[in-house]
Amino acid sequence: MIRLLVGILVFVINGIYKDRPYPRFYVLETVARVPYFAYLSVLHLYESIGLWRKADWLKVHFAESWNELHHLLIMEELGGSQFWADRLLARSAALLYYWIVVGIYLVSPRSAYRFMELVEEHAYATYDKFLTEFEATLKQQPAPAIAKSYYRDGDLYMFDEFQTARVPSDRRPVMETLYDTFVAIRDDEMEHVKTMAACQKPETAMETLSPHAAAALVHGAETEMVMVTENSTPETAPQETAS
Ligand SMILES: [Fe+2]
Ligand SMILES: [Fe+2]
Repeated sequence: MIRLLVGILVFVINGIYKDRPYPRFYVLETVARVPYFAYLSVLHLYESIGLWRKADWLKVHFAESWNELHHLLIMEELGGSQFWADRLLARSAALLYYWIVVGIYLVSPRSAYRFMELVEEHAYATYDKFLTEFEATLKQQPAPAIAKSYYRDGDLYMFDEFQTARVPSDRRPVMETLYDTFVAIRDDEMEHVKTMAACQKPETAMETLSPHAAAALVHGAETEMVMVTENSTPETAPQETAS
């Protein structure tokens, strides 16, 4: 069922946009970020009625949608959204997709994450193929301004936040040519795959899904160890840390 849904989406978009890569990527990026909106909506609903508190997951999913937003902004800067019919198709599909994923996530969060893992895997393969086919052309063009701003010059907290398999600051893409831009986008999609896989694990603790939260925990443990060494009294160290 999940594979079928992904297959239909891919088949339709590939058929319509065979020779128009930027409009195709524009449509894909418009639709592909919608599941993150759906996860956020349902998690907000659970928070509102007092059922669950998963603030950490909200932060990570928002960072994922923020990353996909910048993929979309890049495609817009490249002219992918110029034709009204492409915008209409993308937005209509996004609306439909939103409600489908809300339904799946309400019934089975794990299936909804598996669904997105497959979508992100497909996105990785699509960009990888594009990079191989158009390497020479892409290397002759500069990176879009929005790509330089997001990947290199801006505040990179949100960029680090969606990459739950990495520690913050671990990945800093080169951003000179359009080839670099598509390499970064492709590699982002693989980081989304890893995050979606992590979300399906029952043992994933909500405090440690966020890479910043995990780094803070490790840092806290290190601080505690230093205090234990300095005081030579392991039993008293945690109390001093807390005070
Ligand atoms: Fe994307
Ligand atoms: Fe994606």
